Amino acid sequence: TSALPIFSQEEVTSHRSLEDGVWVTYKGGVYDITEFVAIHPGGDKILLAAGGALEPFWALYAVHNQEHVLEMLSEYKVGEL
Ligand code: HEM
Repeated sequence: TSALPIFSQEEVTSHRSLEDGVWVTYKGGVYDITEFVAIHPGGDKILLAAGGALEPFWALYAVHNQEHVLEMLSEYKVGEL
């Protein structure tokens, strides 16, 4: 498998709406979660992280600290920071 592209923080930050796409970062990975927003079990709260890092939010909502959540996230990976 080929390496995923490297994105700048600015590129990630420019994707923070359903219109422009919703990207987030997690541990150096970049994820395009636009299609996931509508099926997120926690609803629209997910948009608080749009264009930035998941870590501060997942530190507050420990429900994400499970293997199956990380597997779900991995499906949306588009690159590295
Ligand atoms: C619940 C995934 C981002 C808030 C969940 C659950 C999943 C999930 C799978 C259900 C977990 C379970 O019950 O086993 C994700 C993914 C995210 C993301 C893949 C990022 C790509 C966020 C963010 C927030 C958030 C950024 C808050 C700002 C919540 C809350 C729940 C939840 C409050 C609990 C909902 C409930 O049980 O009533 N999320 N989440 N999530 N998420 Fe997220």
